[in-house]
Amino acid sequence: GGGSNLQALHAYLERVGGAKVVLVVSDRASSTALSWAAERGIETAILESQANDPRTLLRLLESHRVELVVLAGYLRLVPAEVVRAYRGRMVNVHPALLPAFGGPQMYGARVHRAVLEAGARLSGPTVHFVDEMYDHGAIIAQWPVPVFAGDTDAALAARVLRAEHLLLPRVAHLVASGRIRLDANGRVATMHSDPPDRAAF
Ligand code: GRF
Repeated sequence: GGGSNLQALHAYLERVGGAKVVLVVSDRASSTALSWAAERGIETAILESQANDPRTLLRLLESHRVELVVLAGYLRLVPAEVVRAYRGRMVNVHPALLPAFGGPQMYGARVHRAVLEAGARLSGPTVHFVDEMYDHGAIIAQWPVPVFAGDTDAALAARVLRAEHLLLPRVAHLVASGRIRLDANGRVATMHSDPPDRAAF
């Protein structure tokens, strides 16, 4: 995508501390996220043909001591070996309220068109732990956004994206600090005093 979630995440972490963006990876050399990061001295990597090779990916993440992977607009399925190595340490943002309007081929404008075609009155971002299937892992937090009569997919996408920029950094920070985690049963565990939705709002 345009890398706007990366920018929101970076700005939030600069403000609150406790975690920082150490590496930006894209499978597209033309990604704005890469040039934006490089201008700020953040390390970058481009994975084109090697994006599906788990060893290359794991080596890259481990060599930069990456502790949490945040997927934002990354359209490929992350190889199962990498998912396993980073279970509970990899989150994704999806621009609709899962489990509806997700899965393979559900990305970009298609998601918002499907929401409009279904006549749903609510949409909004979902942040979830990543598992071996598209848009399927345990849901951590969601942010409801209204769908208005006469909305276009672009108008709805922009409204949802603004909520993504608020929700994703906060959730990523809570996971990075261990206040939200994936338990042994694959469920989201939160510190009693720190429910993700309250923290997010
Ligand atoms: C976001 O809407 C995200 O949910 C989706 O792709 C878009 C990426 O936007 N998966 P950006 O690159 O962060 O601007």
